[in-house]
Order: sequence, then C-alpha cells, then structure tokens
Amino acid sequence: MTTSKLWLVVPAAGIGQRMRAECPKQYLRIDSRFILDITLSRLLDSAPFAGCMVALNAADHWWPDTEASTDSRIQTCTGGAERSDSVRAALLALAEQVADDDWVLVHDAARPCVHPGDLVKLVETLSDHPVGGLLAAPVADTLKKAGRGANPEVVETVDRGRLWRALTPQMFRYAALVDALARAQESGQAVTDESSAMEFSGNMPLLVEGRPDNIKVTVPADLDLAGFILSRF
Ligand code: C5P
Repeated sequence: MTTSKLWLVVPAAGIGQRMRAECPKQYLRIDSRFILDITLSRLLDSAPFAGCMVALNAADHWWPDTEASTDSRIQTCTGGAERSDSVRAALLALAEQVADDDWVLVHDAARPCVHPGDLVKLVETLSDHPVGGLLAAPVADTLKKAGRGANPEVVETVDRGRLWRALTPQMFRYAALVDALARAQESGQAVTDESSAMEFSGNMPLLVEGRPDNIKVTVPADLDLAGFILSRF
C-alpha cells in the first residue's frame, strides 16, 4: 500500500435529470438504504482513508436523513453547476488538511456497486505510479458512429480494440489534480472525469481494469440492475 495518505472525494451534487425521479438519484433507495449511503459505506470500509469530503447540492434537504450524516469520517461542502465544479469545491474544502502529494480518490455518488476488491487493486496498482489512474473496463460491444440526422444512421463501425469505459474511483495526487482541473476550466475544456483534466495537462493516467458491473445509476432501469448486483456480493 502507498505511504501517502488517501482521501476520498464524492461528488453528490447532481440532480439526476435522466432518472426522472422526485429526488436526485443518489437519494433513491436500494433495499431501503440511500444509494449515497451504500456508496460511502462500501468505500470507507474498504481502504484506510484519512478523510472524506462529499459535495452536496446547495438545495439538498435529504442529507440530514442519511446514515452518512452521522459518520465522523465524513465532511460535506457545497458543490457546483457541473460535476467538475463539485469536485473542485470538495478539493478546495480539503485544502487545509491535505498534503500536495497525498492521493485523492474521486468516486461518483451514483456508483454504489463499486467492489472493495477493485478499490484495493486501484490503490495497490497506483501506489508508486507517477501520475495515477482510474478504474476502467474494456468495451465489449461493437461500436457504431452515427450520422448527424434526427434518425441516426451508421456512418462507421469504430474499432473497439483499444477503447475502455472510464469508471470511478479515479486516483490522482492532490496538487496535480487541483492544478489540472483549474487549467482545464480556464481553457474551457469539457471535463467529465478527473482523468480528462489530467490528460489535458499532458499526463497519461493508467487504466486499471475493474469490474464492468461498477455501473453508474443513470436511467430508471439501472436501479433494479444495481440492486441485483449488490445482492450478489
Ligand atoms: O450526472 P452524472 O451521472 O454525470 O453525475 C455523476 C456524479 O457527479 C453524481 O454522483 C452526481 O451527483 C455528481 N454531480 C455533482 N455535481 C454536479 C453534477 C453531478 O456532484 N453539478
């Protein structure tokens, strides 16, 4: 295991529009527990984190009802308009407690199925890596590129040989990640995960193969699937 401290950042400030639910998806329940509680307890029980910062929406009124809200390992801050703004806010909120070369693991609140074994694999694989990296899964389906029309027609079959799906957690050194996110934002670069910010700064994060069932709950059908996956381990 790495000798630098490990910190956990969980962006949970999204409103989950695609779920079409009456609350943000991290507050939907699986077996009567909030997705956010499942995610946080699985992560915090799997590795020796020095601390955890959860970014919440400014209008969030569900948090006080969570198990996590009474967990002394967890702190909260207010997130931002985009996921990357929420991650930046959480990193900033940790600034007084973290050393520049400490590791930060960023994990989507909406990925409750993350497996403890994958978390340990990520940390062990990257402990001596100069950049850091992310859990990812090789693409299994044949990929089609669509044309621009309203009724999409196939214009190309894309070679999937070197394509991976980016998952979370993503693990980078604190100062390098803060710097990369700031640079990407200043350049107007769209950043949907931490790796893309690091790549934009000229780094080459390592892909660490993780379980493909580390799904992000995004559309209503994912909720039952996540429940099934969680019932298996
Ligand atoms: O919307 P999406 O599925 O990409 O969100 C991924 C994660 O980022 C979720 O855990 C969501 O709560 C979080 N998020 C955030 N702040 C935003 C948008 C999304 O913390 N403004």
